[in-house]
Amino acid sequence: MDPALNRSLVFIGFMGAGKSTAARQVARLLGIPCGDSDDLIEQQHGMTPVEHFAAHGETSFREVEEKAVLELLAGQPQVISLGGGSLGSAAVVDALGEHVTVLLDVSLDVAWERIQGSERPLGKDRAAFEDLFREREYVYRELADANLSTSDAEVIEAAVPSLLSMAHGEAGTLRLLWGAGPGGGYPVWIGADALASAPWPLPDESRRFVVSDSNVADLYSGEVPQIAGLIEIKAGEEFKTIATAEMVWDALIEQQATRADHVVALGGGVVGDLAGFCAASFQRGVPVVQVPTTLVAQVDSAFGGKTGVDLPQAKNYVGAYHQPAAVMVDPAKLASLPADEMAAGYAEVVKTALIGGGLLWARISAGDAVDEQIIRECARVKLAVVASDERDGGPRQKLNLGHTIGHAIESATGYTQLLHGEAISLGLLASLRISDADALRTEVRSLLDAAGLPTTLPGLDVDAVLAATALDKKRLSGEVPFVCCSAPGEVHYGVEVDQQLVRAAVEELAG
Ligand SMILES: NC(=O)c1ccc[n+]([C@@H]2O[C@H](COP(=O)([O-])OP(=O)(O)OC[C@H]3O[C@@H](n4cnc5c(N)ncnc54)[C@H](O)[C@@H]3O)[C@@H](O)[C@H]2O)c1
Repeated sequence: MDPALNRSLVFIGFMGAGKSTAARQVARLLGIPCGDSDDLIEQQHGMTPVEHFAAHGETSFREVEEKAVLELLAGQPQVISLGGGSLGSAAVVDALGEHVTVLLDVSLDVAWERIQGSERPLGKDRAAFEDLFREREYVYRELADANLSTSDAEVIEAAVPSLLSMAHGEAGTLRLLWGAGPGGGYPVWIGADALASAPWPLPDESRRFVVSDSNVADLYSGEVPQIAGLIEIKAGEEFKTIATAEMVWDALIEQQATRADHVVALGGGVVGDLAGFCAASFQRGVPVVQVPTTLVAQVDSAFGGKTGVDLPQAKNYVGAYHQPAAVMVDPAKLASLPADEMAAGYAEVVKTALIGGGLLWARISAGDAVDEQIIRECARVKLAVVASDERDGGPRQKLNLGHTIGHAIESATGYTQLLHGEAISLGLLASLRISDADALRTEVRSLLDAAGLPTTLPGLDVDAVLAATALDKKRLSGEVPFVCCSAPGEVHYGVEVDQQLVRAAVEELAG
């Protein structure tokens, strides 16, 4: 790693995020200096920021802070940690444009745990702490070139090569999120031209075998750099099978792929799941890079490491957890996606907005068209849920909002009548009925309707849907797997639900 930076790596985030510690760790790993605005203020004025604030008031402190921060940002590129409030200065925000901003996007609870009871003014007032946190979180996220949802030392160390590649380059539009996984996790690059401008993981000696489908291969495989081989599968859910996986394994052997090589999954959720599974199992596991090209894949399926194929008996019945080595998301690839596939993806966007709440829900409920910020926020929400529960033991079940009944509808209609997202549209409405969130249900129905998604399915066989729901329940060893949503951002899993209520919710869908 060449530690000479073109631009500073500037750690930002709320108080208690762990910015100073993380910045010092990165500087130590790179063997370069570390600047800290709080330390500089103390050196220049002989008192800590907290003492200055108490003695001279906020206005005076902000002036002193702005001067110190601008001095650091104007100096030699280095690693810098900024005080949590310094981004209130327009001059600071402007100067940050030249540098790489790295947000430590820790949760409210983590930050509060570190701050409560401290000498800081907000350390004794949880309500005021929370108000300020909510006010600033999206300001930080918008400014962040890189967003790490933890200050965990293993993750910071794993992220250093990605951060360094940003600090070596020019300012651009590419953004970095971080996924949880073994060895500290993986980079998720989001932005126009991500395939060409993001650093590909893995050393050059690891050859790159692209798996794609018959619609996507011609469109985009030429954009993947240095391909050693291209393996094309037929497009469609009906080809997400063991037979197709076998064909991919055969092709990898024929093209002399080895354990040192890696797979690139270029396509929608079908390619991502199938190629990920082939990578997880080929010679007991080779890395996979996910390059999602559908909305479903860009907001959901490319992250989190669930891979697999369908069996004739049931969907996704054979598979493995296999976290990607990296994910490259270029929203511009959606330009060629057929309208019905875009709408199907929108159902997952609405689901994710209900789980995440906040800015994402505000944008979706305003009827905004899907853009890069919405895709990025969906990815961030999914990555955060997965990070809290990589193997689906608890909180990850939140991602199944609308899916228990949605899957049952898919099964009851023989997987042929509806796209997955269309079934989820119906499932979301049923789950909001079960959640007794009628006003929210009405709002969600008009959003789904406007996107061209079904909100009723006349003739739906209610008994068949209920039977399929029960089967799903049995698969989960008796647990009632309903996920309920009482308000955007308020999602609960494993909720016991009265069977009559489930019936009423499904009957309502049947019209
Ligand atoms: N692993 C997970 O966590 C997870 C999560 C959600 C869904 N899934 C899985 O994802 C699958 C559904 O994914 P999907 O909706 O992306 O379906 P898909 O992969 O079948 O893609 C839909 C269609 O769009 C075409 N296509 C893809 N990208 C295109 C582009 N940019 N331009 C033009 N055409 C394009 C494909 O060839 C296909 O015909 C299901 O199998 C589901 O089980 C997995």
